[in-house]
Amino acid sequence: MKIVVIGGTGLVGSKLVKKLLEHGHEAVAASPQTGVNSITGEGLADALKGASVVVDVTNSPSWEDAAVLKFFETSTRNLLANEAAAGVGHHVALSVVGTERLLESGFFRAKLAQENLIKASSIPYSIVRATQFFEFVKPIADYATEGNKVRLPPALFQPMAAEDVASAVARIATSAPVNGTVEIGGPEPFRLDELARRDLAARQDPREVICDPHAGYYGIQVSESTLLPDHNAQLGKAHFEDWLNQSTKQAPKAAQQPA
Ligand SMILES: NC(=O)c1ccc[n+]([C@@H]2O[C@H](COP(=O)([O-])OP(=O)(O)OC[C@H]3O[C@@H](n4cnc5c(N)ncnc54)[C@H](OP(=O)(O)O)[C@@H]3O)[C@@H](O)[C@H]2O)c1
Repeated sequence: MKIVVIGGTGLVGSKLVKKLLEHGHEAVAASPQTGVNSITGEGLADALKGASVVVDVTNSPSWEDAAVLKFFETSTRNLLANEAAAGVGHHVALSVVGTERLLESGFFRAKLAQENLIKASSIPYSIVRATQFFEFVKPIADYATEGNKVRLPPALFQPMAAEDVASAVARIATSAPVNGTVEIGGPEPFRLDELARRDLAARQDPREVICDPHAGYYGIQVSESTLLPDHNAQLGKAHFEDWLNQSTKQAPKAAQQPA
């Protein structure tokens, strides 16, 4: 089966392409780096020739309100129009658990706009909503940093490894379209402030994480359950502690690579 992964050079996309190839599919990594641009349309028609499935795991280079909305609207419209012309039978897109509860943020308004365009199109689809990636815990802390202090709310969340996100997306992309939304998450819930504290400590990062119920998640006010997936969510296998041990072991090696 030919499966085109738009954003196939990114964190999830590159893992997804590798898994699909390992399963014997013709997986194509499509992104500006490989000459395919879902905003300008460059290379899109050629890349989609003969494709059965298109998976969209792009992300916007800018998260500024107007820019991110323009990115996901333009990119999704271009993809769906080219898929209709190429006779693609399944559009899969990666979105975020809790999107409709996070609309205070321009990023999530853009993700909801992306989902709505997919639902309104004629292409059979599967929307995969994932929880935060383990790899995203540090960027969450970075965003919440002022000086040496990181203020985060004690909200519950159920993060997952990008590797498990890629496995779930591969499974869904190679199955029949659900014409609906599938939620995926990690095997266990944590509190946001607690996990950021563990992540930074394991990296010997000296910042102090302060539990602040009034602090936002990316500036968004969240309740205890805003970020949690629903009870039917498909859960990944990797545990945060194992992933953290692995990734902090690899970090010193990476630092020794020539720039
Ligand atoms: N981070 C999280 O915790 C989280 C949680 C749930 C869902 N998600 C969703 O997961 C998706 C993927 O995230 P990620 O972290 O894997 O992204 P990423 O590593 O930032 O990769 C983004 C990809 O998008 C590509 N791209 C950018 N502009 C493009 C364009 N004009 N045309 C085609 N491709 C373009 C990039 O290509 P180049 O390499 O060529 O620039 C890259 O391959 C996002 O939609 C995000 O909302 C993220």
